[in-house]
Amino acid sequence: MKHSEATPRPATQQHDVEDWRTGGFGLYIHWPFCQSKCPYCDFNSHVATSIDQQDWAKAYVQELERTAELTGKRLLNSIYFGGGTPSLMRMDTVERILVHASKHWTFANDIEITLEANPGSVDAANFRGYHAAGVNRISLGLQALDDLALRMLGRMHTVDEGLRALSTAQSTFDRVSFDLIYTRQNQTMEGWQKELERALSLGSSHMSLYQLSIENGTVFGERFARGQLLGLPDENLGADFFDLTQDVMEAAGLPSYEVSNHARPGSESRHNMIYWTAGDYAGIGPGAHGRLTIGASRYATTMQPSPAPWLAQTRTSGNLEMEKLVDTDCALEYLLMGLRLRAGITLSRLEKMAGKRLPRNQLGDLVDMGMLHIDEDMLQVTRRGRPLLNAVIEQIARLL
Ligand SMILES: C[S@@+](CC[C@H](N)C(=O)[O-])C[C@H]1O[C@@H](n2cnc3c(N)ncnc32)[C@H](O)[C@@H]1O
Ligand code: SF4
Repeated sequence: MKHSEATPRPATQQHDVEDWRTGGFGLYIHWPFCQSKCPYCDFNSHVATSIDQQDWAKAYVQELERTAELTGKRLLNSIYFGGGTPSLMRMDTVERILVHASKHWTFANDIEITLEANPGSVDAANFRGYHAAGVNRISLGLQALDDLALRMLGRMHTVDEGLRALSTAQSTFDRVSFDLIYTRQNQTMEGWQKELERALSLGSSHMSLYQLSIENGTVFGERFARGQLLGLPDENLGADFFDLTQDVMEAAGLPSYEVSNHARPGSESRHNMIYWTAGDYAGIGPGAHGRLTIGASRYATTMQPSPAPWLAQTRTSGNLEMEKLVDTDCALEYLLMGLRLRAGITLSRLEKMAGKRLPRNQLGDLVDMGMLHIDEDMLQVTRRGRPLLNAVIEQIARLL
């Protein structure tokens, strides 16, 4: 185990009552493999010809043990298998990880255990196996309900295959979310509205709706740089797409609870809430990040991103690298993550983290412009402020 400073002693303190609504504790497992690489995606995902799942399961178990030595036995509110494509994991790999996690931490009665799935690798028997192992929520990468758009996004599945995968997931799990990407090449507002309405008819109570972002180091990033990625909406049209999305989803009873995440009240992703409410989470797997409170300090954890070295390192010193966060880092992170939530952040918590009082009178301009709302101890970005979220956060951050 590598540390950028003296290794902290295992946690002995009682954490405040662990609750995903105000923080809590989660476990993120990163599975870094996919069947093919999508041209827009800059996630830590790799195409491998052969994967020894037994070796991988053993490696996750080893890193779980090392992390648990640091955290002590805490109440676990959520587990999230993200990727990559975790639906390529064998069910016994998932089961082994869950069995070991339950040895190290106490599962909350209402623990949420999510697994991300790609419609191209959904198999009914596998899904039943995940369910039997304890997974209780699926997040499916549908991406579009339009075959031409799926081809342009480089996806390997059709709309029909996506819908069949959704129905398989829904017949096995009570909680199924799916992802769609919008502001795609040549997409029209009318087309997106129809697609959203169709998506709403599919009976999910949670959807993640992402605007296509063009990332450096991806195929789309390179095409864009060469001027060959045509038909993308400009910023103003992008804002109109965002507004339309909010209107349609709000009218259907799935308002956004975070910039890109929509849910019927009560169906929010608990795992996401842990990130956005500055809770603790252990991150295990290539490139996984974590945040751990140990004693009176908070640490950012990272792991080696490349799959082969990560696997090799689990057999020797382990992959966990830790950096102690100073108070301002913690406060800035809470601001940055928490203001993505519609519910906003608690001012007293922000001030406690920063160790200073936020001069509220200097927020007056943002409030007067209708971008910010302050209600006693809550600070929220309004719907008007949301398209300018980063600029709003920047102004507040200057006051910390
Ligand atoms: C790890 S993937 C989900 C599971 C699976 N790998 C799949 O793609 O079906 C996470 C999600 O991030 C979104 N995403 C990835 N890259 C994106 C980009 N450049 N712009 C917008 N959304 C993106 C996609 O909606 C994708 O479903
Ligand atoms: S979008 Fe999903 S399937 Fe495509 S490369 Fe990224 S992680 Fe893999």
